[in-house]
Amino acid sequence: MEQTFIMIKPDGVQRGLVGEIIGRFEKKGFTLKGLKFMTVDRSFAEKHYADLSEKPFFSGLVKYIISGPVVAMVWEGKNVVVTGRKIIGATNPADSAPGTIRGDYAIAIGRNVIHGSDAVESARKEIGLWFPEGIAEWRSSLHHWIN
Ligand code: TYD
Repeated sequence: MEQTFIMIKPDGVQRGLVGEIIGRFEKKGFTLKGLKFMTVDRSFAEKHYADLSEKPFFSGLVKYIISGPVVAMVWEGKNVVVTGRKIIGATNPADSAPGTIRGDYAIAIGRNVIHGSDAVESARKEIGLWFPEGIAEWRSSLHHWIN
């Protein structure tokens, strides 16, 4: 089953949006498979955003991500990567539709509340980076509501 990596950024945590964001993914029907509250250091954040290292906003982005605790999560479900990005909304909150997380709760591209993997392959890499210990196993078949 497809999985994605979702991270509530420091502004989302500090603004009290954790419950709201988790609720949106739960109510959509996705399954929570991993969840950690953590503060990452500079080299870890640089690894997560390695693909953007040449961008002019890279150092500001890294500073923002390491500025406080984040909520790192793995969510699972049918088409969760693409649908997760739809729930999150466009990168720039000025372009994010109302009803999306960024559309409802963000104004600035540099404070856009949440990260979600952009492809199945990057999700695999990001889950490996953030959850090297692995994720919890669901031993029941309770999650067979959606197929
Ligand atoms: P990116 O991976 O392009 O977007 P997304 O998070 O939607 O996958 O960029 C990563 C983060 O970098 C983005 O969430 C916010 C920040 N960023 C800026 O601060 N300025 C910019 O011009 C862009 C494109 C991104």
